[in-house]
Amino acid sequence: MPAYAVIGGQWGDEGKGKIVDFMAQDANIVVRYAGGGNAGHTVENENGKFALRTIPCGVVNSHTRLNIIGRGTVPDPSIVVEELKALAAKGIDISRLRIDKAAHLVMCWHVTKDRLEEERKRKDGNSIGTTGNGIGPCYADKIDRVGFRAGDLLDFPRFKDRFSLRYKERAAYFKRNYRSHFRKFFFFRKCGSCTICGKMRSLPNALAELEGQVEYLRQTFGGLESLILDTRPILWDALHRGQNILLEGAQGFLLDIDHGTYPYVTSSNTGVASAANGSGVAISDITERIAVIKAYVTRVGEGELPTRMAGYPERKIRELGHEYGTVTGRPRRCGWFDTVSFKCVARANGLTGVAITRLDILDHVKLIGIGVDDGKGGVRIEWFHGWGPEESVKNCRTWESLPERAKEYCKIIACGIPIKYVSVGAAREETINVEEA
Ligand code: IMP
Ligand code: MG
Repeated sequence: MPAYAVIGGQWGDEGKGKIVDFMAQDANIVVRYAGGGNAGHTVENENGKFALRTIPCGVVNSHTRLNIIGRGTVPDPSIVVEELKALAAKGIDISRLRIDKAAHLVMCWHVTKDRLEEERKRKDGNSIGTTGNGIGPCYADKIDRVGFRAGDLLDFPRFKDRFSLRYKERAAYFKRNYRSHFRKFFFFRKCGSCTICGKMRSLPNALAELEGQVEYLRQTFGGLESLILDTRPILWDALHRGQNILLEGAQGFLLDIDHGTYPYVTSSNTGVASAANGSGVAISDITERIAVIKAYVTRVGEGELPTRMAGYPERKIRELGHEYGTVTGRPRRCGWFDTVSFKCVARANGLTGVAITRLDILDHVKLIGIGVDDGKGGVRIEWFHGWGPEESVKNCRTWESLPERAKEYCKIIACGIPIKYVSVGAAREETINVEEA
């Protein structure tokens, strides 16, 4: 099994971190191929509990040889350094990280732009509800061919010159175009520390911060060259030697810039095609294409959620499932599983398998809704009698041991795609490897 892609089958937060951690036990290399610090991947295993944002989940797995931040991603150096320090403090061997030199870096002005735009749109009543991590503006600069790439850090004096120029140009642009925001904050002399544009420090401070981050990376990796490089030959060589590569998705396919509910989407491609493009692994090498799907759906940020639950079930699921954003802490909207959108995800990504997560949460729901095609281009809810609370999936470790109703439910939501894993809790042991039976 040369390369396998694990993508989000919904609007993100499907539990990819946990499934990737489980699958990483067989992977030599784990690659993140898109997105950046907007992601929040939670992993709980024998090494502890971790919340990762840009670094692949394989880093907290002792078997994984290398973890690559691929060329399709947009890492923010300040977040990467923060993550590395937190991992090192927990005794994780961080030397197994590599960053592709073509990955575009999120700079402070991207974060500022993201937040100022959101503030402006909010006033007009059409905000997207981004995570505020500068993802959209960074990808926009990449497409505009004015971006800063990881490889540019290798010539740091030149990087700093370009950084200063662009900083001044951006600062002038912000003052020109977001006058009301700046007037308010200049008046109170608060700008630079407000939560909206606080990332945009003064130029000397921004440069000093960047220098500190680069110095940390240099010392940790014995020079930047061993961290930042063309990672494609590493992947091609691994494939040639028959090693396993896991391509770790972020966000979900319904947030994809081309396939999602535009404009309420993230700024990258999130599916299997992006796993190839964002890493350098050929499409033909990706023989397993797995979507992680939660037993219900959630959505954080704005945009439609056709199967949204009524008030009480939503509150209950949100509390039971701790459905609050890992990165932003925002409460997630909760809905019933939507087979209509999932069939589209399955088709567009050529799925070979699904991993169903959070089945245990539905232990507590007597009547479970399922979104089905209403024949008029929309979704209607059908009701399914659950298995709980008399029966529970929590302690099941094999497919056979699951309650009959739970198995039936899993088959319905999988829409004919083979079920590979069923997750019944946060810990690694609480995973049913269906194929093993
Ligand atoms: P951005 O990716 O920060 O630009 O946010 C765009 C949209 O994608 C917003 O609705 C976010 O809430 C959503 N989003 C981005 N990353 C994630 C994620 O990792 N999980 C869930 N939603 C996300
Ligand atoms: Mg998340």
